[in-house]
Order: sequence, then C-alpha cells, then structure tokens
Amino acid sequence: MGKKGQYFVVEIERQTFSGAAVARINRYVVFVPGGVPGDKLRIRLVERKENYGVGKIVEVIEPSPYRVEPVCPHFPKCGSCSWQMMRYDAQLREKEAILKEFFEEKGLPKDTILPIEGMDLPWHYRNKAIYPLKRLKGKVLMGFYERNTHKIVDVEDCPIQYPKINLVASKARGLISKERITIYDEVRHWGKLRYMVVKGSKRTNEYLLTLVVKDTAISRSFARKFMGIDDSIVGVVEDINPKKGNTIFGPEYRTVEGRGYYIESFAGKKFRVSALSFFQTNVEQAEKLVKRIRETFEDDVGLMMDGYSGVGLFAITLADLAKRIVGVEESRSAYFDAVDNARRNDQMNVEFINAKVESVIGGIKAEVLILDPPRRGLDSSVISAIADVRPHRIFYISCNPKALVRDLDALLSFGYKIDFVQPFDFFPHTPQIETLVKLSA
Ligand SMILES: C[S@@+](CC[C@H](N)C(=O)[O-])C[C@H]1O[C@@H](n2cnc3c(N)ncnc32)[C@H](O)[C@@H]1O
Repeated sequence: MGKKGQYFVVEIERQTFSGAAVARINRYVVFVPGGVPGDKLRIRLVERKENYGVGKIVEVIEPSPYRVEPVCPHFPKCGSCSWQMMRYDAQLREKEAILKEFFEEKGLPKDTILPIEGMDLPWHYRNKAIYPLKRLKGKVLMGFYERNTHKIVDVEDCPIQYPKINLVASKARGLISKERITIYDEVRHWGKLRYMVVKGSKRTNEYLLTLVVKDTAISRSFARKFMGIDDSIVGVVEDINPKKGNTIFGPEYRTVEGRGYYIESFAGKKFRVSALSFFQTNVEQAEKLVKRIRETFEDDVGLMMDGYSGVGLFAITLADLAKRIVGVEESRSAYFDAVDNARRNDQMNVEFINAKVESVIGGIKAEVLILDPPRRGLDSSVISAIADVRPHRIFYISCNPKALVRDLDALLSFGYKIDFVQPFDFFPHTPQIETLVKLSA
C-alpha cells in the first residue's frame, strides 16, 4: 500500500453511515467523502491509518450514473447534507444496504427489512433550523458549521429547510445586523447572542424564534422587533446558556414576547410544541410512520406505554387503539406540552409521567410498548425491565441503526421475534436512517 499524499485511481463501491463512500486500494479500505457508488475517481490519500485511509477526490475520471449536480451552492463545504451529489433513488438504495449491513454484522435476520419509504419531493422538508452566529468585519454570519469544525458557512437559502424558515432567518439576521447586540465569540467566551433557532409549521404557518444568549437578558422591546419581521412569528423565547462548549441550550429559558410554543397539525390532531421540546423534523414522513404503526397494531389493547413520548405524538395519534395510554418523558418542557396536547385533542385515556423511562417502565406493565429513544438507544435497565414485563408487542423507532441492532440483539435473546423492519427516509441528502421495527413476544 502507498503512502500518505500519494495519488490513486479508485472505484467507489458503496456508501457508509458516516457519510463517506468506500473504495479499495487492493484490499485496503479508503473512505472517500463525496464519492458516489460507481464513480471512477482520482484521489489523494490524505490520511493513512493501519486499517483504513481517507481519500480526497482530485478528479472525477468517470462519473457514476448516480452522480448529480448538487442543488445547494454550499455543498460540500456545509456539513449538513453530505449526499447531495447522489441521485435520490441511489440514496434510498444505499440507506437500505447500510441497514442490512448493520443487521448482518449482528447476525440479525435481514430478510425482515422492507424497502425504505422515501419522500416524493425530498426538498424543503425540515421544520427546524439551528443557526450559529458570528460577527466578522461588521457582517453577521449565520448558517451551519463546516464538517467537523466550528467555521460557519454563511447560508441564506437552505434547500432542505422550509422556505419560510429561510425567510424568517434572513429577516432576523437583517435585524440583528442593524441592532447593537453583541455576538458571542466562543474563543474569548464573550458577547451575548450565541444561536438563533427557528422552528415551526408549514401547515399552521406558525413559527417560533429562540435566541440563545450567554447571560444577559433580551429586552421586550428587542423581542417585539423580532415579532414584527414576519406575520407568522408567534413568539420570541430566550434561552440562557452561560457555559463554554458545544451544548446549544442552557437550562433556563423564558418567553419574552408572544407565546413560547407553536402549533403543529399532525395526523388530524393539533400539537403544541415549545421552544425546548423535541418534535419530529420531517412531519410528512413521521405521519407515514404513525400510519404504519396503526395498520399493524393488534386489537383489544388494554394498556400501551409510549416511552420517550416527547410532546405526546404517538400516544395522542394512536390513542384510539388502546383503552389506556401512558406516555413517559424526561424533559419537563415536552412533558407539559404533552399534557396540554392530550387536553387539546380531548384524549381522556392518555396520561403522561415526567420521568426517565428506566425508572418507571418496570411498574407500568404495558401490553404494547412504543419506544422512540434518543440516539444512544435503550438503557440496559430498560432492556431488563422489558424482559420482566414481557409486553406482547413492541414498536421500536430508531434514528441510530448502531444502537438499534445492539438493542434488537438483546431483545431477541429474550425470545422476541421481529415481525418487520421498516426504514423511512426522514433526512434526505444525509446518511441518517429512521427505522420502525415491530417485535412480538
Ligand atoms: C427521539 S425523541 C422522540 C419523541 C417523540 N416520540 C416524538 O416522536 O416526537 C426522544 C425523546 O426522549 C426524551 N428522553 C431522552 N432520554 C429519556 C429518558 N431516559 N427517559 C424518558 N425520556 C427521555 C427526549 O427528551 C425526547 O423528547
């Protein structure tokens, strides 16, 4: 094998979950960011490790039939969408193949994996944008980070965000530029405004603006100016994050003007979503997922538990399928939204507990479980509690195939079997995969 800095001609074989494509120099694996399966490329070896290397594309000698011109002028600098150079049908195929590989590595039955559900129009699907800010030579930069750096790529018009989010963010940036507010500098840990978050609903045309500040408060008169930039803004929230480091939100927040939440319309129900509450970023695909659960639900369920329930999305949209539903959510903000959402939708058989799933699951004794954990997957104590309680059915929703196969492996060892695995594309143009798995005892 050659040395770092040397040039090679390679053919791209496949994509990976990390976003980089795989090629081989003899049997040595090289990850090539920006490669598309079927490409013949000249690359320079920029990293040479014992087991693998990293190659930088120097020339596309023969493009793959799946290679397309990226829509976004900020590709590949912006770290948000690393697959924009690949045709959408090829993206879907690669995601399916990646999921199958995760299953194969763990010895799980990959014939349970159904074809991935993609989007008809895979653009402008995101309902939330988190913008880091920076002042550079008097100009306010707003956008997204370059991959693995804290350098901001200045983005005015992001093709995966809702157009209204782009518009609101651009108007807000205009206002920030005019006002004398200082912008946070992470090196000096100085300045006020750290991030701006815009999220909302295309369906109700309600958008919420959250300003993350280092310590000092936002004045009401300043917040009122933000309210005035677009009719769709329903509230301005401030979140205080005094800590150094990468965490975006601090624990303290308050509504400065308007309301601290927006309303989303989802699967025929209305949901209040507060500034710090989780909500699915792709509502169109999330509705397909809920529909799939509904279609494959069993009859006559007494007690269902919705673990990691957020603002009550699954508990409330599926409330008619069980006599009683208990949602469990750790975040206070999401829990309060969920309680309000149950009332808002007249769902009297749904209740919520503000707790960690691991601390209450053993006592709930649900017949059907819905589990939609964060990226790290299920805590080992949750897995042991499932082994004790033995619900008949489990619907496991995962955004991280690595954690998913680890947890499935454990659940299968207690005698559960996989009914089906349905991947969904919630995040077109990125390697992210959302998966619904139905298990039976
Ligand atoms: C992927 S989100 C799913 C939310 C909801 N199911 C939905 O679709 O909108 C995960 C949720 O789990 C919550 N969470 C994280 N760790 C938790 C834990 N140990 N116990 C309960 N909730 C937790 C987070 O606050 C977040 O709301």
